[in-house]
Amino acid sequence: MEKIKKLAFGTDHTSVEIRNTVKKYLEKMGYEVEDFGFSGSESCDYPDYALKVAEAVVNKKADKGILICGTGIGMSIACNKVKGAIAAVCWNEDTAKLAAQHNRANILCLGSRTATISEVCHRIKIFLETPFEERHMRRIAKIKEIENNQH
Ligand code: RB5
Repeated sequence: MEKIKKLAFGTDHTSVEIRNTVKKYLEKMGYEVEDFGFSGSESCDYPDYALKVAEAVVNKKADKGILICGTGIGMSIACNKVKGAIAAVCWNEDTAKLAAQHNRANILCLGSRTATISEVCHRIKIFLETPFEERHMRRIAKIKEIENNQH
């Protein structure tokens, strides 16, 4: 399994309250976390943070990305516009595991309005500790081909 050391982390205004707890949890597990924000009190636009995290991952400044918005949906839609990003919204432990194991997701997107802090932390742990299974590589290659054929 590839060694995951560095994480790119980002949140929007919906997740200011859980941001530090999640970040500390990741650091306590031994990960190096680059935090791309958001920490203000006004509202912000999640695509700005999705882009920063996705770029850090595809440019290999981070091994994996973790993003939290209200639902995880907007973050994942924005990330998946970046070539090389494979962002997955995961709504329970099983999907967090399968996103890593079957889909080779490199960015996990979660919702602060749809999960508790403890569920968020647990899903992240499972995602980061589950290796990709090479038998799924044929499908990942087909997704890459779709991406490469877009103009
Ligand atoms: C912000 O209100 C909300 O739309 C955002 O956090 C996210 O849930 C979008 O998908």
